[in-house]
Amino acid sequence: MASVAIGSSEQYNYDVVRKFTIMALIWGAVGMLVGVFIASELAWPFLNFDFPYITFGRIRPVHTGAVIFGFGGSALFATSYYVVQRTCQARLLSDGMAAFTFWGWQLIIVLAALGDVLGYSQGREYAEMEWPIDLLIAVVWVTYAIVYIGTIMKRKEPHIYVANWFYLAFILAVALLHIFNNLAIPVSLTKSYPLFSGAQDAMVQWWYGHNAVGFFLTAAFLGMMYYFVPKQAGRPIYSYRLSIVHFWALIFMYMWAGTHHLHWTAIPDWTSTLAATFSIMLLMPSWGGMINGIMTMSGAWDKLRTDPILRFLIVALSFYGMSTFEGPMMSLKDVNALSHYTDWTVGHVHSGALGFVAMISFGTIYHLIPRLWDTRMFSTKLITVHFWLATIGTLMYITAMWISGIMQGLMWRAYDDFGNLQYSFAESVAAMHPYYAMRALGGAVFLTGMILMLYNCFMTISQSKNVPAGGLATSAA
Ligand code: HEM
Ligand code: HEM
Repeated sequence: MASVAIGSSEQYNYDVVRKFTIMALIWGAVGMLVGVFIASELAWPFLNFDFPYITFGRIRPVHTGAVIFGFGGSALFATSYYVVQRTCQARLLSDGMAAFTFWGWQLIIVLAALGDVLGYSQGREYAEMEWPIDLLIAVVWVTYAIVYIGTIMKRKEPHIYVANWFYLAFILAVALLHIFNNLAIPVSLTKSYPLFSGAQDAMVQWWYGHNAVGFFLTAAFLGMMYYFVPKQAGRPIYSYRLSIVHFWALIFMYMWAGTHHLHWTAIPDWTSTLAATFSIMLLMPSWGGMINGIMTMSGAWDKLRTDPILRFLIVALSFYGMSTFEGPMMSLKDVNALSHYTDWTVGHVHSGALGFVAMISFGTIYHLIPRLWDTRMFSTKLITVHFWLATIGTLMYITAMWISGIMQGLMWRAYDDFGNLQYSFAESVAAMHPYYAMRALGGAVFLTGMILMLYNCFMTISQSKNVPAGGLATSAA
């Protein structure tokens, strides 16, 4: 099928989609570079150089901010604006407001990183930003919601395609989470105190943290799946009915599971049990969604042999299935007693983050770039190389963390014959070293793939005036 049957830029606003796509690539490279650096700091602590601005504690949130909000967020803005326009056959509600979300969002990422490095932080994970940045986030996000909902309202298609439902849930839930988790009393421009305290504060923070995973890192990327997997495979989604059940079950269940981040702490025990119960139930919609995505390949499995973009998308779904099996297991109180505070959690995070979030974004961006610039990819071979580097890097990362995490947990709970702890904490830290080195190496492999992607996409964009569309990498649309 002709590959770039995209509307002209007059019909749709692709300008903002292009800008967000480029920034997703740039933030991806920056965030992963910082990821490799902090991984190296953990393996070789001299890299902190006693220089406060680059110590692990300050730049760890620079990593999480750059990869989640910079890379993931920009990819989500880009794809949601693309998908809503194409499935609604309507141009974005307002070009000016869309441009505002672009510049506002980029400013937020830069200010957040500066705040982290300079030591201004609320100390809330994934919500470190102080109140002036939080206010800016609220304004940008509400503008995003208006543009998105407004575009759906002026649609020419009677039907609202399911990908939009997922993006919409993401937009509405993130607004809710962000506003409630950041209710605080400012005492100066750079300092505020949260409205909640003690156990309530912890519960609000992890209601936010968990649903940031559920709606930012999951529901929205499932929206991506529902549009780009069928597009790249050239097949309709396996079951539309399943996608609707998937949607309602997923968004209903996620909201109840946050307290599994606080097992064995000062929170009421019943909230732990409730969270574990909902986490176990979450396996069903999660796997339903994964199966829906993967089965979309039925009748087109042979394409996986030749199309590295599809490989990215399908392997992403496999990692999604794996991390949503592991998550419910870790939410059981007894398993969590072993896994909590250990690298097992970090391994789980990155099997979702590298394996699912990053891989599905890579596949999607490779699908988008030739269409947005009306050309073909500079090199399909480089996409294949990237695919293998990303897969090998992810496997190295998560295997190292599983081994070190389970070892950590077991060492901390080992007793000798006299009932004393068998290992000192320092001994457990020393035992981690080889695995920290392996994780840093796996991260470097993953980062190399990201840099190849940046190069490939940069070359594609710069050749776009001379090379017309219709190449291999775009042929499956
Ligand atoms: C080259 C790739 C990457 C490397 C080397 C890397 C490395 C790291 C390291 C060393 C940490 C700190 C772990 C600790 O505190 O013990 C971390 C945390 C984290 N990273 Fe990455 N990362 C990478 C990519 C990503 C991506 C793409 C995402 C998201 C899309 C991500 C999301 C996170 C999150 C959410 C945390 C916090 C985990 C927690 O609190 O348990 N990372 N990363
Ligand atoms: C059914 C789905 C899932 C369930 C039930 C689940 C459950 C869990 C549990 C029990 C923890 C450990 C909490 C702790 O001991 O501190 C955790 C941590 C985490 N999970 Fe998942 N998980 C799921 C899917 C995912 C996916 C797909 C991703 C990423 C895309 C993800 C990202 C994270 C992150 C970032 C953390 C670390 C939070 C932190 O401590 O900073 N999870 N998850």
